[in-house]
Amino acid sequence: MSGNSIIEVKNISKHFGGLSAVNNCSLKVESGSITGLIGPNGAGKTTLFNIVAGTLKPDNGQIIFDGEDVTGLAPHKLFKKGLLRTFQIAHEFSNMSALENLMVVPDKQLGENLFNNWLRPSLVTRSNLEVLQKANEVIDFLKLGHVKNELAGNLSGGQKKLLELGRTMMVDAKLVLLDEVAAGVNRTLLNDLAANIERMNKELGYTFFVIEHDMDLIARLCDPVIVMASGEVMAEGGMEEIRNNPKIIEAYFGSSPKVA
Ligand SMILES: Nc1ncnc2c1ncn2[C@@H]1O[C@H](COP(=O)(O)OP(=O)(O)O)[C@@H](O)[C@H]1O
Ligand SMILES: [Mg+2]
Repeated sequence: MSGNSIIEVKNISKHFGGLSAVNNCSLKVESGSITGLIGPNGAGKTTLFNIVAGTLKPDNGQIIFDGEDVTGLAPHKLFKKGLLRTFQIAHEFSNMSALENLMVVPDKQLGENLFNNWLRPSLVTRSNLEVLQKANEVIDFLKLGHVKNELAGNLSGGQKKLLELGRTMMVDAKLVLLDEVAAGVNRTLLNDLAANIERMNKELGYTFFVIEHDMDLIARLCDPVIVMASGEVMAEGGMEEIRNNPKIIEAYFGSSPKVA
């Protein structure tokens, strides 16, 4: 059935008024892969991501996650099942330290439950210590130890991106969606970010589904790469293959002058 694909997009369509943003799209992301999604602006990539992540409901089609039909499930339910997307550090968290930003991620940690606090203080303490330990591990993994007590709002753009990535490591993520995570990040930090995504994939077994405009980053990280244009999947393969495919060159440089 689903083989070892973590996500299966089956015949998904989405209209906005008269505009067909995603048109009968089907694709798979294999477990353990870093799969790229590219295409010109307006191709429907973000709309498709929003449908996969549960923030938009499709008109038609199914989303199968880890063998289970999750079509139309709310984002927090998908989060609990291990389907995550990164978010910019929210405004209200900028006055918390980097470490604390990681610690607020685990959903329904025992300490948040009044009943547990009241009845089982030892259990609560242990759980909070586990969260703290996990947060420190993530900080170490991302080599952010020197800024772990800095307010998140004071971190550099690149450090914030790493922290966003780090938040996905606080829970058991089976799939992480990255939508243009490299936007506005300079070359050096981009390398750092890419290296960390690679390490999360190779060392920790994370599966990534990545929308990215930076073709060098896609070429470095992603195999396979899926190409969307006008709401449809038009090709899939290795980046070399994609780069040499005349149909794709046409989609980028022909009908659509804006290079994605
Ligand atoms: N909420 C929305 N309402 C109306 N049109 C939208 C909405 N979101 C996206 N679109 C349109 O759908 C198409 C696909 O957009 P999008 O998924 O953002 O493409 P991409 O991420 O590939 O650039 C575009 O024409 C865009 O203008
Ligand atoms: Mg987009």
